Amino acid sequence: MVMARRSDLLVCTTLECETKEEMVASMEKAKEEGADLVELHLDSMSFSHISEVEQLLSQRTLPAIVALDVGITDFLNERSNSKIIVSSYLNGGRPSKEKLGNLIACQQSTGADVIKLMVDVVYITDVAPLFHMLTHCQVPLIVRAVGDRGLISQLLGPKFGAFLVCGSLGGTSTPGLPPIVSIKQVYKLEHINANTKVFGVISNPVGHSKGPLLHNPAFRHTGYNGIYVPMLVDDIKEFFRVYSGTDFAGFSVGIPHKEAAVECCDEVDPLAKSIGAVNTIIRRPADGKLVGFNTDCEASITAIEDALIERQVANGEASLTSPIAGKVFVLVGAGGAGRALAFGAKSRGARVVIFNRNFERAMALAQAVSGEALPYECLDTFRAENGMILANASAVGMQPNCDQSPVSKEALGSYQLVFDAVYTPRNTRLLREAAEVGAVVVSGVEMFVRQALGQFKLFTSGLAPEDFMRRTVLQQF
Ligand SMILES: NC(=O)c1ccc[n+]([C@@H]2O[C@H](COP(=O)([O-])OP(=O)(O)OC[C@H]3O[C@@H](n4cnc5c(N)ncnc54)[C@H](OP(=O)(O)O)[C@@H]3O)[C@@H](O)[C@H]2O)c1
Repeated sequence: MVMARRSDLLVCTTLECETKEEMVASMEKAKEEGADLVELHLDSMSFSHISEVEQLLSQRTLPAIVALDVGITDFLNERSNSKIIVSSYLNGGRPSKEKLGNLIACQQSTGADVIKLMVDVVYITDVAPLFHMLTHCQVPLIVRAVGDRGLISQLLGPKFGAFLVCGSLGGTSTPGLPPIVSIKQVYKLEHINANTKVFGVISNPVGHSKGPLLHNPAFRHTGYNGIYVPMLVDDIKEFFRVYSGTDFAGFSVGIPHKEAAVECCDEVDPLAKSIGAVNTIIRRPADGKLVGFNTDCEASITAIEDALIERQVANGEASLTSPIAGKVFVLVGAGGAGRALAFGAKSRGARVVIFNRNFERAMALAQAVSGEALPYECLDTFRAENGMILANASAVGMQPNCDQSPVSKEALGSYQLVFDAVYTPRNTRLLREAAEVGAVVVSGVEMFVRQALGQFKLFTSGLAPEDFMRRTVLQQF
């Protein structure tokens, strides 16, 4: 696929300042961050005479959209190099194609050079009619879906023909607006065109996701014409009903949609089906069907296996079976990650013992993998044999509770290998203490890289820039 760079996409940011000096300074900052133009909200300024506006415009270092009250329209009309944008703000009620079409026709009838539509959106699916307008409007159109469910209106706008996108200044995320620095450095929207395939992470919340920092650079590294964006989704079924086009090509699925995602797919990979959770969905190019996978399982289990194999090789040992076959595999946690690990360990022939704060959940999972569930309080004293595997798939030790560990240092002596699914921080207390008692340690970052690689392969039908993705993750985390 061709990734031509378009030079005509404009990145704009809104400036609301009290004084002319602040406006000029903010404009300079916007320029540094990569904005092509600014929208000056004059109503935020306290100026005493119209000449100050004239001064501001003459001192500006970027082209400016001037948001003004009708009173000084005449003043601007006199400027020969100005164009008029007629803007509407729609809030309340769901935006339909008909409603937006009528509104645009009305704005067009004023003789506007450019039309701008700001629309409050309640759901991410409300953005779809705006994309339709971008594609079909005869007059230059600027759209913005307001609110954090509207973010894709800016990130995907260029795919549907937007000539201008808005961003926020100073690296801060305003709901619905990506930071300009992300537009320029992560998403590189100037590369997006009508042929770009759309990928994203469907989650709620979604702001914490590192996926965009990884998949977007990987697309560019491999020359694949794709974009990967955060998608704040409330109803996953409705999402797929509305965004059913073949260009919506692949998705990571996060909290709380992993289980519901199984039902949304036309086909589900048998492993994901038995785990009961889908973390990756692709729209199969051949027939447009949604196919679900779980890349968490293989990612975590192969990370553990490879570390053990490396140790075996170093000791001059070799084996044809999985190094965890027959071993006691102690799993802490029975949530999404825990389920993936339990099924993975079972598939390799390990004896799975599950500890989970909620014991019923532990029992249900133990039953599903023909394992054993024991009370959470017994975890520290559990010493079935020496050389066991410990996998933490609970949130214990995750930021901000970095001083916590699910297992005491004294108890870690029974384990040959300790894996922690937690990847923020990279080196958890559990891993530090396990290394201190001489266990092989495997970080959640390794699982993260592998599950992302698995997703990227599925997204692109096989591309796997492993070294690049590994390097990118290590830089970002
Ligand atoms: N490295 C990776 O690529 C990767 C991928 C997925 C997940 N993860 C990490 O794995 C961890 C679990 O994620 P998940 O998706 O499985 O989440 P989840 O489905 O919400 O499950 C959370 C698990 O943590 C347990 N837990 C939470 N707080 C606890 C506490 N204070 N004490 C004891 N147990 C506690 C829960 O026990 P209850 O059942 O009793 O609530 C449950 O077993 C997270 O830290 C996540 O970041 C990493």
